[in-house]
Amino acid sequence: MVYISRKEFFNAAHRLYNPAWSKEENDEFFGPCANEYFHGHNFEITVTVVGEPNPMTGFVINLKKLGVLMKSLIVDRIDHKNLNMDVDFLKGKITSCENLVKVFWDILAPEIEKNSSGRLFKITLQETHKNYVEYYGEKGL
Ligand code: NI
Repeated sequence: MVYISRKEFFNAAHRLYNPAWSKEENDEFFGPCANEYFHGHNFEITVTVVGEPNPMTGFVINLKKLGVLMKSLIVDRIDHKNLNMDVDFLKGKITSCENLVKVFWDILAPEIEKNSSGRLFKITLQETHKNYVEYYGEKGL
């Protein structure tokens, strides 16, 4: 099996906030991430596909095509947006990286299956130089 990855970038604002909690509880738990007027990140999203190369092309997935899928299905819908306010598929969710990768997975996995000889293996979302999350789908590794 071959693991092949594509990275894309987006900038977005968000705020970590649970509306079921008081302002004090949110501030206590989320700290400055709960700031009322939001804050931004330069995100990196890496999508990894696993499979055997198609004997006709030598590719597991055409990386240019993967980039187009990532851009059209995810990046173009969230780049320079406020993730809490502007993004229909994130409505009602706490916009943590953990929640974001799960939503991204559900959007990308079926399209990757259609356009590759493999399947979606992992999504990595880098929020800061220090913090990133990895998601391997519901079944895990
Ligand atoms: Ni943040």
